[in-house]
Amino acid sequence: MQFMKNQQLATIEAEVLIVGVSEHQENLSGWSDFKEIYGPNLDEWIKNLDISTAVKGLTKLPTTLKNVKRVLYVGLGQRKTLTPDDLRAAFAATGKELAKSRVKTVGLWVDSLATDEISVTDAAILAMEGLVMGSFQVENYKTTNNQADVTIEEMKFISAHDQESILASLEVGEIYGNAVNSARDLINLPGNVLTATALANYAEELATKYDFEIEVLDKAQLEELGMGAILAVNKGSKEEPRLITIKYNPKEDWEDVVTFVGKGVTFDTGGYSIKSKSGIVGMKGDMGGAASVLGAMQIIGELRPNHNVMAVIGSTDNMIDGNAFKPDDVITTYSGKTVEILNTDAEGRLVLADAVAYAKQQGATSIIDLATLTGGVITALGFDKTGALTNNQSFYNEFHEATEETGEFTWLMPLTENDKKRIRKSDVADLNNSPGGDGHMIFGGGFVGEFVGETPWIHLDIAGTSDANAPHDLGPKGGTGVMVRSLATYIMRITAQNK
Ligand code: BES
Ligand code: ZN
Ligand code: ZN
Repeated sequence: MQFMKNQQLATIEAEVLIVGVSEHQENLSGWSDFKEIYGPNLDEWIKNLDISTAVKGLTKLPTTLKNVKRVLYVGLGQRKTLTPDDLRAAFAATGKELAKSRVKTVGLWVDSLATDEISVTDAAILAMEGLVMGSFQVENYKTTNNQADVTIEEMKFISAHDQESILASLEVGEIYGNAVNSARDLINLPGNVLTATALANYAEELATKYDFEIEVLDKAQLEELGMGAILAVNKGSKEEPRLITIKYNPKEDWEDVVTFVGKGVTFDTGGYSIKSKSGIVGMKGDMGGAASVLGAMQIIGELRPNHNVMAVIGSTDNMIDGNAFKPDDVITTYSGKTVEILNTDAEGRLVLADAVAYAKQQGATSIIDLATLTGGVITALGFDKTGALTNNQSFYNEFHEATEETGEFTWLMPLTENDKKRIRKSDVADLNNSPGGDGHMIFGGGFVGEFVGETPWIHLDIAGTSDANAPHDLGPKGGTGVMVRSLATYIMRITAQNK
């Protein structure tokens, strides 16, 4: 998107001018100037609710002016109680509306979005983030789809504040929104298109664009290294697996490496513990963890914080043929630990076991793993909350602050010694991959924890939050890109704290 600064209320040229409107609009500095140009009756229209001030309420009114065809009033409720989440959601609704009406050139009166609590620069970030996420359109393969997507091409902004800092904020918001949308696109790709090889190719393009170091291990190399867990999951597939490692190393040393580990199962049939006819639909999205990790790396690549970051993604599909792994099989993981397979549908934890062990070997000093790991997290927390586990409360607390900033609800679940005992219970191996159906979100993540050891670790089970079954506040049905913003925000926060 092209940004244009130094615009004025009276002379700006745009198809739509976006203005924040609240119950006490008269307190907004510049409002009387605005009314002089755009209509003396505006206060009355607001009072009579002809212009909605409800949060997420939108009112589009035509003007008789030549330079601005319409004004889109974005409801901010009572400005003083407006939260950052409200502002982001209000602009996601705005983005959806603009995409629907195929608008290309917009004006934004940035100062009309600020409150006592939300600075004008923060408002600029939040608004852009929402606008970009809200205007996201799901790509499809309809042959009758002859209307090309329209995106906003030009954003002209008005502000009495420093133009450069407003511009920078708008750009940050756009970067966050775009990265979320990239993750959404990946999740929405069908499994016959987004294979492990295709995912690795995508990661390579990303690495080239942002000058990251990247390593992609193929099947022969995984065999060489003894990555028995990811290989077991891949055994029934005609598609090769991939282990993708990206390193962003702005520091002199490869020390203090925050590492994101993603589950990249491109399609999960369940294997011989096969999924039901209805349960299997949607399993193209079982690489949501990988998508979030890559989305976060896109932000890291754009903003280039001064902190080492690594991403490790284990990718394969989980298929069935005469060679596929089976219940009762015993496998040896990269770490050397053996696992008794009780359920081939508990494949994500196996892929993550090798990915986490490899991450440690590559210098990870803290690990956040992300996975669409269990139906259990959905039973426990629903579709709007990410479930977490940790072995380090203060690490979790810091990350949780980032999720509060981004509005991505995350809830810490307990991982007890008794849970660990059950993960370690097997007559024939060190671990079993499916201790039971009771509270099994904990067994899924806890299994990954067995390969993490003492390294500070957070597990994020995004099975409920990665793929939306209906349109929501920040976007349409389909991949959500959950945690993209939180991961990046966590890195930006610890960089700012100089940790
Ligand atoms: N990919 C699934 C989890 C999942 C379920 C993701 C629903 C998104 C929506 C995972 O591999 C899986 O099958 N988990 C099993 C584990 C069980 C066999 C212990 C589950 O949750 O049922
Ligand atoms: Zn599964
Ligand atoms: Zn899975």
